[in-house]
Amino acid sequence: MRAAAFTELTGPNGVGVVDQPTPEPGAGDAVVDVEACAINRHDLWILEGDSAMVAADDLPFVSGLDVAGTVRDVGDGVTGVEPGDRVLLCPNETCGTCRFCREGPENLCEEFSLFHGGLAEQARVDASRLVALPDEIGATAAAALPTAYMTAYHMLRRAEVGPTDLVFVPGVTGGVGVAAVQLADVLGAETVGTSSSREKLDRVTELGLDHAIQSTDPEEIRAEVEAVGEPDAVLNHLGGEYTELGQTVLRRGGRMVICGRTAGGRSEIDVPDLFLGHKRVIGSTMGTQQDLQRLVDLVAAGDLAPEVADTYPLAETGAAFAAMQDRDTVGKLVVTP
Ligand SMILES: NC(=O)c1ccc[n+]([C@@H]2O[C@H](COP(=O)([O-])OP(=O)(O)OC[C@H]3O[C@@H](n4cnc5c(N)ncnc54)[C@H](OP(=O)(O)O)[C@@H]3O)[C@@H](O)[C@H]2O)c1
Ligand SMILES: [Zn+2]
Repeated sequence: MRAAAFTELTGPNGVGVVDQPTPEPGAGDAVVDVEACAINRHDLWILEGDSAMVAADDLPFVSGLDVAGTVRDVGDGVTGVEPGDRVLLCPNETCGTCRFCREGPENLCEEFSLFHGGLAEQARVDASRLVALPDEIGATAAAALPTAYMTAYHMLRRAEVGPTDLVFVPGVTGGVGVAAVQLADVLGAETVGTSSSREKLDRVTELGLDHAIQSTDPEEIRAEVEAVGEPDAVLNHLGGEYTELGQTVLRRGGRMVICGRTAGGRSEIDVPDLFLGHKRVIGSTMGTQQDLQRLVDLVAAGDLAPEVADTYPLAETGAAFAAMQDRDTVGKLVVTP
């Protein structure tokens, strides 16, 4: 089978198509014919050599978390799926036995890690991590869901967002940002978001964004958010200076959930403002398989349409990463092996 492997950790030019043996399922595994696999900033970090997870010794490395396709083969002991089933992978990998796995939620697992290997014609996965895909959901739309939408949905849950809440999403045009807007809309909340690009904001406004701010200047953004209102929640996937900004605009008792560090891995917290304002800063990673099932149900019911910016054949996986690096798209980029 063919796979789009990272052969050098030098950015998009480090992706090449390689031939690999077709995987055989072990006990508990399924081998999936991959129809679609979305890419995420997480894969790009690896490809840029900015992830502790993959080093030069691990090359060639096949990344790709968000697999949608059809089961080709199953290993011993698999009962939940069979060849021919259309499926979507929840890329969570958990130990199943630690205190956090027992008590839940599963994404707290102390051994928590992620599946990689979807940027290929076939992928060997843990069969118990497959969610059934109804016929009305295409593979490309489905592949957009796991990392971006599941993470955003879990963040909205952690922030206890409900109808009438105002949610601030800095960096609103990417995978997690667009998912946050669409899902906040499903919950009946109001959204305010930022981008460097007017054109991209116009598209996100069509997808449900209520207040668009075109700026990368924290002071300007602060003033514009305050003109809209006091956010009850901030969904922060940028980190860096956006954490301080988020804390400043948050209402008393508000919640800021952080899942990423695109703008920087270090942020300042105003400690007196935090305790005097009864604010909460919450870390969050991925979501639960139950969250993903709920998202599949929402799409099947016609309540959510995942935003896919573009699709790429396997041989053009490098171009997909270049587009993500260039920040010129709205929503998810999906490779279709
Ligand atoms: N912890 C988790 O489980 C988890 C899961 C998913 C994602 N994440 C993290 O969440 C973040 C977003 O992931 P994603 O896949 O949604 O990425 P993405 O699609 O690349 O996000 C693009 C968005 O980020 C903005 N952006 C990019 N670089 C920026 C910069 N230097 N300063 C300010 N804004 C910038 C873009 O703004 P413009 O519109 O101006 O271009 C755009 O709105 C990443 O840090 C990722 O690692 C974490
Ligand atoms: Zn565990």
